[in-house]
Amino acid sequence: MPEPSAMLSRPLHVAIIMDGNGRWAAQRGLPRLRGHEAGTESVQAVVRACRDRGIRYLTLYAFSVENWKRPREEVGGLMNLLVRFLRDQERELHAHAIRLRLIGRQEDLPEEVRRELDRVTNATRSYEKGHLILALSYGGRTEIATAARRIAEQVKAGHLEPAAVDEALFSRFLYAPDIPDPDLIIRTSGEMRLSNFLLWQSAYAELYVTPVLWPDFREREFEAALDEFSRRQRRFGGLGAEEGSSEAVS
Ligand code: IPE
Ligand code: IPE
Ligand code: MG
Repeated sequence: MPEPSAMLSRPLHVAIIMDGNGRWAAQRGLPRLRGHEAGTESVQAVVRACRDRGIRYLTLYAFSVENWKRPREEVGGLMNLLVRFLRDQERELHAHAIRLRLIGRQEDLPEEVRRELDRVTNATRSYEKGHLILALSYGGRTEIATAARRIAEQVKAGHLEPAAVDEALFSRFLYAPDIPDPDLIIRTSGEMRLSNFLLWQSAYAELYVTPVLWPDFREREFEAALDEFSRRQRRFGGLGAEEGSSEAVS
Protein backbone atom coordinates (compact mmCIF):
# COMPACT_ATOMS: atom_id res chain seq x y z
CA MET A 1 0.00 0.00 0.00
CA PRO A 2 1.45 3.37 -0.92
CA GLU A 3 1.65 6.04 1.78
CA PRO A 4 -1.33 8.44 1.60
CA SER A 5 1.06 11.26 0.73
CA ALA A 6 2.20 9.30 -2.30
CA MET A 7 -1.37 8.93 -3.57
CA LEU A 8 -1.63 12.47 -4.85
CA SER A 9 -4.59 13.00 -7.11
CA ARG A 10 -6.21 15.95 -8.72
CA PRO A 11 -9.91 16.40 -9.38
CA LEU A 12 -11.35 15.99 -12.84
CA HIS A 13 -14.27 18.25 -11.96
CA VAL A 14 -14.23 21.12 -9.47
CA ALA A 15 -17.46 22.93 -8.57
CA ILE A 16 -17.49 26.19 -6.61
CA ILE A 17 -20.15 27.93 -4.53
CA MET A 18 -18.84 31.47 -4.93
CA ASP A 19 -20.14 33.10 -1.77
CA GLY A 20 -19.27 36.20 0.24
CA ASN A 21 -19.30 39.04 -2.29
CA GLY A 22 -21.78 41.05 -0.23
CA ARG A 23 -19.78 40.66 2.98
CA TRP A 24 -16.57 41.62 1.18
CA ALA A 25 -18.22 44.86 0.04
CA ALA A 26 -19.80 45.54 3.46
CA GLN A 27 -16.40 45.22 5.15
CA ARG A 28 -15.21 48.06 2.94
CA GLY A 29 -18.32 50.18 3.23
CA LEU A 30 -19.06 49.60 -0.47
CA PRO A 31 -22.32 48.70 -2.21
CA ARG A 32 -22.88 44.94 -2.66
CA LEU A 33 -22.46 45.20 -6.40
CA ARG A 34 -18.84 46.23 -5.96
CA GLY A 35 -18.32 42.89 -4.24
CA HIS A 36 -19.83 41.07 -7.20
CA GLU A 37 -17.56 43.05 -9.52
CA ALA A 38 -14.47 42.09 -7.53
CA GLY A 39 -15.74 38.49 -7.60
CA THR A 40 -15.52 38.34 -11.40
CA GLU A 41 -11.74 38.75 -11.07
CA SER A 42 -11.66 35.66 -8.88
CA VAL A 43 -13.65 33.84 -11.56
CA GLN A 44 -11.01 34.72 -14.13
CA ALA A 45 -8.22 33.64 -11.78
CA VAL A 46 -9.84 30.26 -11.12
CA VAL A 47 -10.62 29.63 -14.81
CA ARG A 48 -6.94 30.30 -15.55
CA ALA A 49 -5.78 28.08 -12.68
CA CYS A 50 -7.90 25.16 -13.94
CA ARG A 51 -6.58 25.63 -17.44
CA ASP A 52 -2.96 25.67 -16.26
CA ARG A 53 -3.49 22.51 -14.22
CA GLY A 54 -5.45 20.62 -16.84
CA ILE A 55 -8.61 20.43 -14.71
CA ARG A 56 -11.17 19.68 -17.40
CA TYR A 57 -14.45 20.62 -15.75
CA LEU A 58 -15.14 23.72 -13.69
CA THR A 59 -18.68 24.47 -12.53
CA LEU A 60 -19.42 27.87 -11.01
CA TYR A 61 -22.57 28.57 -9.01
CA ALA A 62 -23.24 32.08 -10.24
CA PHE A 63 -26.96 32.55 -9.52
CA SER A 64 -29.43 30.28 -7.77
CA VAL A 65 -33.18 29.95 -8.33
CA GLU A 66 -33.52 31.43 -4.85
CA ASN A 67 -31.37 34.47 -5.71
CA TRP A 68 -34.32 35.99 -7.65
CA LYS A 69 -35.60 36.98 -4.18
CA ARG A 70 -32.91 39.68 -3.95
CA PRO A 71 -33.60 43.36 -4.64
CA ARG A 72 -34.21 44.20 -8.29
CA GLU A 73 -31.14 46.46 -8.53
CA GLU A 74 -28.84 43.72 -7.28
CA VAL A 75 -30.28 41.15 -9.67
CA GLY A 76 -30.04 43.62 -12.58
CA GLY A 77 -26.46 44.47 -11.65
CA LEU A 78 -25.54 40.78 -11.56
CA MET A 79 -27.08 40.22 -15.00
CA ASN A 80 -25.11 43.17 -16.44
CA LEU A 81 -21.92 41.82 -14.92
CA LEU A 82 -22.60 38.44 -16.48
CA VAL A 83 -22.92 39.95 -19.96
CA ARG A 84 -19.72 41.93 -19.43
CA PHE A 85 -17.93 38.83 -18.15
CA LEU A 86 -18.96 36.82 -21.22
CA ARG A 87 -17.70 39.51 -23.58
CA ASP A 88 -14.39 39.80 -21.72
CA GLN A 89 -13.92 36.07 -21.42
CA GLU A 90 -14.82 35.02 -24.95
CA ARG A 91 -11.35 35.46 -26.42
CA GLU A 92 -9.86 33.34 -23.64
CA LEU A 93 -12.35 30.57 -24.29
CA HIS A 94 -11.43 30.50 -28.00
CA ALA A 95 -7.70 30.79 -27.34
CA HIS A 96 -7.74 27.78 -25.01
CA ALA A 97 -10.47 25.65 -26.61
CA ILE A 98 -12.77 25.90 -23.60
CA ARG A 99 -16.45 25.17 -24.07
CA LEU A 100 -18.99 27.27 -22.23
CA ARG A 101 -21.89 25.23 -20.83
CA LEU A 102 -24.95 26.19 -18.83
CA ILE A 103 -27.06 24.47 -16.23
CA GLY A 104 -30.23 25.93 -14.77
CA ARG A 105 -33.46 27.57 -15.92
CA GLN A 106 -32.26 29.67 -18.85
CA GLU A 107 -35.85 30.61 -19.57
CA ASP A 108 -35.84 32.82 -16.43
CA LEU A 109 -32.98 35.01 -17.64
CA PRO A 110 -33.47 38.37 -19.36
CA GLU A 111 -33.51 38.30 -23.16
CA GLU A 112 -30.18 40.12 -23.58
CA VAL A 113 -28.39 37.74 -21.23
CA ARG A 114 -29.85 34.70 -22.99
CA ARG A 115 -28.82 36.01 -26.37
CA GLU A 116 -25.24 36.50 -25.23
CA LEU A 117 -25.14 33.09 -23.51
CA ASP A 118 -26.52 31.40 -26.63
CA ARG A 119 -23.98 33.13 -28.81
CA VAL A 120 -20.98 32.10 -26.70
CA THR A 121 -22.17 28.55 -26.00
CA ASN A 122 -22.73 28.02 -29.75
CA ALA A 123 -19.41 29.58 -30.73
CA THR A 124 -17.48 27.31 -28.33
CA ARG A 125 -19.57 24.18 -28.78
CA SER A 126 -16.90 22.14 -30.61
CA TYR A 127 -14.17 22.66 -27.97
CA GLU A 128 -13.20 19.83 -25.69
CA LYS A 129 -10.07 20.83 -23.87
CA GLY A 130 -11.97 22.31 -20.96
CA HIS A 131 -15.57 22.87 -19.91
CA LEU A 132 -16.63 25.98 -18.05
CA ILE A 133 -20.11 25.32 -16.69
CA LEU A 134 -22.11 28.24 -15.35
CA ALA A 135 -24.98 27.43 -13.01
CA LEU A 136 -27.49 30.20 -13.68
CA SER A 137 -30.95 30.33 -12.18
CA TYR A 138 -29.90 26.91 -10.96
CA GLY A 139 -31.53 24.85 -8.23
CA GLY A 140 -30.71 21.23 -7.45
CA ARG A 141 -34.29 20.41 -6.49
CA THR A 142 -35.61 22.06 -9.65
CA GLU A 143 -33.16 20.00 -11.71
CA ILE A 144 -34.29 16.75 -10.07
CA ALA A 145 -38.01 17.59 -10.28
CA THR A 146 -37.63 18.55 -13.96
CA ALA A 147 -35.91 15.23 -14.69
CA ALA A 148 -38.70 13.36 -12.88
CA ARG A 149 -41.34 15.18 -14.90
CA ARG A 150 -39.63 14.43 -18.20
CA ILE A 151 -39.30 10.77 -17.27
CA ALA A 152 -42.99 10.64 -16.32
CA GLU A 153 -43.87 12.11 -19.73
CA GLN A 154 -41.80 9.43 -21.47
CA VAL A 155 -43.51 6.71 -19.45
CA LYS A 156 -46.96 8.15 -20.18
CA ALA A 157 -46.18 8.29 -23.90
CA GLY A 158 -45.20 4.63 -23.78
CA HIS A 159 -41.53 5.25 -24.65
CA LEU A 160 -40.21 4.06 -21.31
CA GLU A 161 -41.02 1.28 -18.85
CA PRO A 162 -41.18 2.33 -15.17
CA ALA A 163 -38.90 -0.63 -14.38
CA ALA A 164 -36.19 0.94 -16.59
CA VAL A 165 -35.89 3.96 -14.29
CA ASP A 166 -32.69 3.50 -12.33
CA GLU A 167 -29.87 5.85 -11.27
CA ALA A 168 -28.11 5.70 -14.62
CA LEU A 169 -31.28 6.46 -16.57
CA PHE A 170 -32.32 9.21 -14.16
CA SER A 171 -28.92 10.92 -14.59
CA ARG A 172 -29.48 11.11 -18.33
CA PHE A 173 -32.42 13.45 -17.74
CA LEU A 174 -30.42 15.97 -15.70
CA TYR A 175 -29.14 19.25 -17.22
CA ALA A 176 -25.71 18.05 -18.38
CA PRO A 177 -25.66 14.25 -18.37
CA ASP A 178 -22.27 13.92 -20.05
CA ILE A 179 -20.42 15.85 -17.35
CA PRO A 180 -18.92 13.67 -14.60
CA ASP A 181 -19.99 14.31 -11.00
CA PRO A 182 -17.85 16.90 -9.20
CA ASP A 183 -14.94 15.42 -7.26
CA LEU A 184 -14.43 18.55 -5.21
CA ILE A 185 -16.97 21.18 -4.13
CA ILE A 186 -15.47 24.38 -2.74
CA ARG A 187 -17.53 26.91 -0.79
CA THR A 188 -16.07 30.28 0.12
CA SER A 189 -17.00 32.53 3.05
CA GLY A 190 -17.48 29.80 5.61
CA GLU A 191 -21.12 28.74 5.30
CA MET A 192 -21.48 24.99 5.91
CA ARG A 193 -24.28 24.30 3.47
CA LEU A 194 -24.93 23.38 -0.15
CA SER A 195 -27.66 25.98 -0.76
CA ASN A 196 -29.40 23.77 -3.35
CA PHE A 197 -26.25 23.18 -5.42
CA LEU A 198 -25.77 19.95 -7.41
CA LEU A 199 -27.81 17.88 -4.95
CA TRP A 200 -27.82 14.74 -7.07
CA GLN A 201 -24.24 15.06 -8.33
CA SER A 202 -22.67 15.87 -4.95
CA ALA A 203 -23.36 12.41 -3.50
CA TYR A 204 -19.65 11.56 -3.15
CA ALA A 205 -17.99 14.92 -3.71
CA GLU A 206 -15.29 16.01 -1.29
CA LEU A 207 -16.39 19.23 0.42
CA TYR A 208 -13.96 22.06 1.12
CA VAL A 209 -15.14 25.16 2.98
CA THR A 210 -12.87 28.14 3.45
CA PRO A 211 -13.59 31.33 5.42
CA VAL A 212 -12.00 33.36 2.61
CA LEU A 213 -14.59 35.56 0.88
CA TRP A 214 -15.01 34.94 -2.84
CA PRO A 215 -13.41 38.22 -4.05
CA ASP A 216 -10.28 37.28 -2.05
CA PHE A 217 -10.20 33.71 -3.38
CA ARG A 218 -7.42 33.56 -5.94
CA GLU A 219 -4.89 31.08 -7.27
CA ARG A 220 -3.17 30.56 -3.91
CA GLU A 221 -6.46 29.67 -2.17
CA PHE A 222 -7.43 27.40 -5.06
CA GLU A 223 -4.09 25.62 -4.78
CA ALA A 224 -4.72 25.11 -1.04
CA ALA A 225 -8.07 23.47 -1.83
CA LEU A 226 -6.42 21.18 -4.37
CA ASP A 227 -3.70 20.26 -1.86
CA GLU A 228 -6.34 19.37 0.71
CA PHE A 229 -8.22 17.32 -1.89
CA SER A 230 -5.09 15.37 -2.75
CA ARG A 231 -4.82 14.32 0.91
CA ARG A 232 -8.40 13.07 1.20
CA GLN A 233 -9.07 9.39 1.12
CA ARG A 234 -12.16 8.62 -0.92
CA ARG A 235 -13.89 5.37 -0.17
CA PHE A 236 -17.26 5.58 -1.93
CA GLY A 237 -18.76 3.40 0.76
CA GLY A 238 -16.12 0.72 0.32
CA LEU A 239 -13.05 0.03 2.42
CA GLY A 240 -10.02 0.95 0.42
CA ALA A 241 -8.54 3.12 -2.26
CA GLU A 242 -11.11 2.59 -4.96
CA GLU A 243 -11.11 4.24 -8.33
CA GLY A 244 -12.79 7.64 -8.33
CA SER A 245 -13.04 9.94 -11.28
CA SER A 246 -10.09 11.94 -10.00
CA GLU A 247 -6.80 11.55 -11.78
CA ALA A 248 -3.55 10.30 -10.32
CA VAL A 249 -0.72 12.77 -10.63
CA SER A 250 2.87 11.65 -10.48
C1 IPE B 1 -22.39 35.29 -3.72
O1 IPE B 1 -22.20 36.34 -2.83
C2 IPE B 1 -22.90 35.74 -5.06
C3 IPE B 1 -24.31 35.38 -5.32
C4 IPE B 1 -25.06 34.67 -4.54
C5 IPE B 1 -24.88 35.85 -6.57
P1 IPE B 1 -23.37 36.89 -1.92
O2 IPE B 1 -24.03 38.01 -2.65
O3 IPE B 1 -24.27 35.81 -1.48
O4 IPE B 1 -22.52 37.47 -0.70
P2 IPE B 1 -22.92 37.39 0.84
O5 IPE B 1 -23.23 35.97 1.17
O6 IPE B 1 -24.12 38.28 1.01
O7 IPE B 1 -21.71 37.90 1.55
C1 IPE C 1 -25.38 30.38 -2.89
O1 IPE C 1 -25.12 31.52 -2.15
C2 IPE C 1 -25.68 30.75 -4.31
C3 IPE C 1 -24.57 31.22 -5.11
C4 IPE C 1 -23.32 31.28 -4.72
C5 IPE C 1 -24.88 31.61 -6.46
P1 IPE C 1 -26.27 32.25 -1.30
O2 IPE C 1 -25.64 33.42 -0.67
O3 IPE C 1 -27.43 32.50 -2.19
O4 IPE C 1 -26.65 31.13 -0.25
P2 IPE C 1 -27.36 31.25 1.17
O5 IPE C 1 -28.57 32.11 0.98
O6 IPE C 1 -26.38 31.88 2.11
O7 IPE C 1 -27.66 29.85 1.56
MG1 MG D 1 -24.26 34.57 0.14
